[in-house]
Amino acid sequence: MAGQIPQRFIDDLLARVDVVEVVGERVKLKKAGRNYSGLCPFHQEKTPSFTVSADKQFYHCFGCGAHGNALRFLMEYDKLRFPEAVEQLAGRLGLEVPREGADDPRAQARERKRKEGVNLLELSASFFRERLKMPEAQGARAYLEGRGLAPEVIETFGIGYAPDGWEGLKRHLSERGIAEAVQVEYGLLVHREESGRTYDRFRDRVMFPIRDIKGRTIGFGGRVLGDAKPKYLNSPETPVFHKGRELYGLYEARQADHRLERVVIVEGYMDVVALAQFGIRNAVATLGTSTSEEHLSRLFRLVGEVVFCFDGDRAGRQAAARALETVLPLMIDGRQARFLFLPEGEDPDTLVRREGPEAFQDRITCASPLSEFLFDQAAAGRDLARIEDRERYASQVLAALAKLPEGVLKSLMLTELSRRTGVEPSSFAALLARAEPAAQEATTGPGASAPDAGGMPETAPPLGESAAPPGRTGGSLSLVARALQLLVHEPELVARLPEEDDWCPEEEPDGRLCREVIRLLRAGRYRSPQVLLAHFHGSPEGERLAALARRELLIPRAARGAELDGLVGHFRRHRRRRSPQEEIEALLAREKAGERLSREEKQRLMALITELHR
Ligand code: GTP
Ligand code: MN
Repeated sequence: MAGQIPQRFIDDLLARVDVVEVVGERVKLKKAGRNYSGLCPFHQEKTPSFTVSADKQFYHCFGCGAHGNALRFLMEYDKLRFPEAVEQLAGRLGLEVPREGADDPRAQARERKRKEGVNLLELSASFFRERLKMPEAQGARAYLEGRGLAPEVIETFGIGYAPDGWEGLKRHLSERGIAEAVQVEYGLLVHREESGRTYDRFRDRVMFPIRDIKGRTIGFGGRVLGDAKPKYLNSPETPVFHKGRELYGLYEARQADHRLERVVIVEGYMDVVALAQFGIRNAVATLGTSTSEEHLSRLFRLVGEVVFCFDGDRAGRQAAARALETVLPLMIDGRQARFLFLPEGEDPDTLVRREGPEAFQDRITCASPLSEFLFDQAAAGRDLARIEDRERYASQVLAALAKLPEGVLKSLMLTELSRRTGVEPSSFAALLARAEPAAQEATTGPGASAPDAGGMPETAPPLGESAAPPGRTGGSLSLVARALQLLVHEPELVARLPEEDDWCPEEEPDGRLCREVIRLLRAGRYRSPQVLLAHFHGSPEGERLAALARRELLIPRAARGAELDGLVGHFRRHRRRRSPQEEIEALLAREKAGERLSREEKQRLMALITELHR
């Protein structure tokens, strides 16, 4: 680990960079008085509510509440960790980031190596790209064309060609002063011990550069043009390339859409590129390994949803079962995982060509949610009419649930399991607690939500704490609270609410909060219960929402939309008609309190005032 970055340096850095400039490079800004404004990059909007203040060196969005300084902006927009954002800002000013107690020569040497490697890999990538344009690459170009790739996609992915011959790249790099030993270290040259000879690793192959999240080339995959073996050749492990960690296409997917919310994990380079060719630009591939926990926790830092894509055969099912095991401990509330099975004998590349992108997109949309896949998998080959089968079914599901972090998903699944097996939810508590200690290790991985307890031996949580019997709900909720609870558990439901919020009785307890939540959800930034709760964290509203989130939602998923519609209908029918005077006052009071009225509300206000004066 590198040492701490001194606070002084951070303060100094913030004093020297201009947030307007940093934001302005990524968002189109217009000067508006003393400030700048533009379309908020953190939520979908048509009229600008995002402002940047040069005086305060702050940005703020009135639509979704996003705000912060230049560092925070880089962290959010470029999805960087704090030290990476500091590095980036410092880089602009040509400053080295000092580290406290890090005159560690080994750390420095490592950093030097990293820079050296990136440089040489970038040189190689452009060498391959150039070669693809030369007469010698005619076969490679024909091959790519034969696979249906247009020049734009080839360019987007930086695809190139490694010429036939033993020393093309070696000569190119050596002429640029790069030592052979370094070329070997980064996997571009192969060194034969016996003869002492070195030669190009990649020869007569189509080259796919593998880029890290910032777009720096860190390795390559090369495909033969014909049927020779091996079909694909990857860079070996190097100081910058670790196969089990990287995902092909992630940089390109982020380039295509900075607000990327969903990623589809496929198997091969060609799948990623073919999908992109058809406009599906959010696919990534592991590099010939199965999906690891590290892959997933990296992905979940960037997006809320991953869709695993598998062949429909037995191997595909097995891979899916492994993926399920890997993803379970990472499923904190707000994250989604789904499972897509393709017809036998197809991969995304062949399928998207055959069916077209809409059909493929439909398959993605209809992929099984994790919960469904988990239940289906446990049910496979069992006759749930038989008690013994039901017992094994329940045990298998419980074993999986023990790996899930505490949260809404887990308790919903327990309720569902109870419904499917007819077993009292309270009996699951004991079973789960027994399964828990074994699962502990798995849940303290890098993506786990709980902070690391620093190696303290953790005892199993007290019964009733970890797996509270879902029936225990306390007093009954008011109707407004029930609507709010539905929204907290399932934010997507906001889509079905009427455009006007006037159904929601503002004067009742929870009424204002409910409207506020609806407004935030509409702004699009809070698509998960977890993030929503975080927004209100530390306030009385936050406590109220957390209490509602903790409360079991006993309505089956399929019935929730109808339930919400019913509530809205009820409010509408029983709503006391307010006089124009009352309505005007309510609107003005809100405006006075610093709230921004929507366009519709403003129009309504004007209409009411006109009406009153007639
Ligand atoms: P195409 O035949 O080009 O369509 O590739 P594919 O992606 O359909 O191939 P396949 O399903 O056989 O392989 C999927 C992924 O596994 C590839 O993208 C590679 O990452 C990896 N892979 C396949 N064959 C080899 C191989 O021979 N060696 C290595 N190292 N990896 C391979
Ligand atoms: Mn294929």
